Amino acid sequence: MGKIKFAVIGCGHIGKRHAEMISRNAESELVALVDVKEVSKVGIESFNVPFFNSIEELLASEIAETIDVINIASPNGFHAEHALLALEAKKHIVIEKPMSLNKQDAEKVIFKALHVHKQVFAVMQNRYSPPSVWIKDVIESGKLGKIFMMQLNCYWNRDERYYKADSWHGKKELDGGTLYTQFSHFIDLMYWLFGDIQNVNSRFANFNHSHLTEFKEDSGVINFEFVNGGLGCLNFSTSIWDKNLESSMTIIGENGSVKIGGQYMDKVEVCHIKDYEMPELPPTNPGNDYGAYKGSAANHHYIIENVVDVLKNRSTITTNALEGLKVVDIIERMYK
Ligand SMILES: NC(=O)c1ccc[n+]([C@@H]2O[C@H](COP(=O)([O-])OP(=O)(O)OC[C@H]3O[C@@H](n4cnc5c(N)ncnc54)[C@H](O)[C@@H]3O)[C@@H](O)[C@H]2O)c1
Repeated sequence: MGKIKFAVIGCGHIGKRHAEMISRNAESELVALVDVKEVSKVGIESFNVPFFNSIEELLASEIAETIDVINIASPNGFHAEHALLALEAKKHIVIEKPMSLNKQDAEKVIFKALHVHKQVFAVMQNRYSPPSVWIKDVIESGKLGKIFMMQLNCYWNRDERYYKADSWHGKKELDGGTLYTQFSHFIDLMYWLFGDIQNVNSRFANFNHSHLTEFKEDSGVINFEFVNGGLGCLNFSTSIWDKNLESSMTIIGENGSVKIGGQYMDKVEVCHIKDYEMPELPPTNPGNDYGAYKGSAANHHYIIENVVDVLKNRSTITTNALEGLKVVDIIERMYK
């Protein structure tokens, strides 16, 4: 098998990262880019590949035949639609977070993928951060014993510098809300570590975004039980003044306590576990820097590596379609 051939839909901040990481991987090749904008406005001069103005145009072109994988990095509200078109054309897909803005759409994508025997890779690159890899092992090896409580705090800044009038951010149909756009990575980590939740109670507020977004809330306090036992809560806000404060997870177990914090859960702040000494972790990649505001970890090269490894039968999918769907399902229940 030669190089895996990729096309990227949506050439904004993250689409360009996909394109860059595909170009840097020795076993993958970028063969096309798609964006609704005029090519001169997209900023993709460094990628010398054919450009199309829609996924339909791409799929109708001669290049379509050569493509193995389509990476979907368009605004959230288009993910499921673009995924279905790509799968219909018998391409594997890499789908940016969140997989869709409702559970039914995620189910349609999974159904279609099974039908055409193609792979779906959900993008949850925070799972690759050293503190995430470490805590996954601590929980799975049972060192903490029973999990009593988990608290997730996501306190970020997203103000007028982020919610621009001409952007998809803040639009109900395209963005979906802060749990989908800002905090789905952390909900994914929670689900990955502790499994599903039940008996969800949510309380929301809109402190300072009513003129900036179409959503009813910018902040919330949500509590629930884990199906596997234990209590959990999520406190989130995009109303933090000036800059992100933290994304942290505090875990209270039978045999110890852990707190992972930093701006994007990149630092182990507390590790106090019976008969256990914390190893030294490799450094975490910094968050994506968008100028005035900061996002989640810059780990997209791992996603491309995983796609190549899976398609060459060397590995399994890091975040599969069912996990992508569960994150959407949990967020949907939190909003209800
Ligand atoms: N994994 C992460 O950490 C991470 C970080 C940021 C964004 N994202 C996700 O990536 C996606 C894109 O976010 P972004 O920050 O790059 O946004 P962006 O606004 O920078 O880029 C989106 C691009 O998609 C284009 N577009 C819009 N409609 C399109 C369509 N129908 N077909 C093709 N292109 C279309 C826009 O013109 C724009 O260039 C979102 O789903 C977002 O949630 C993921």
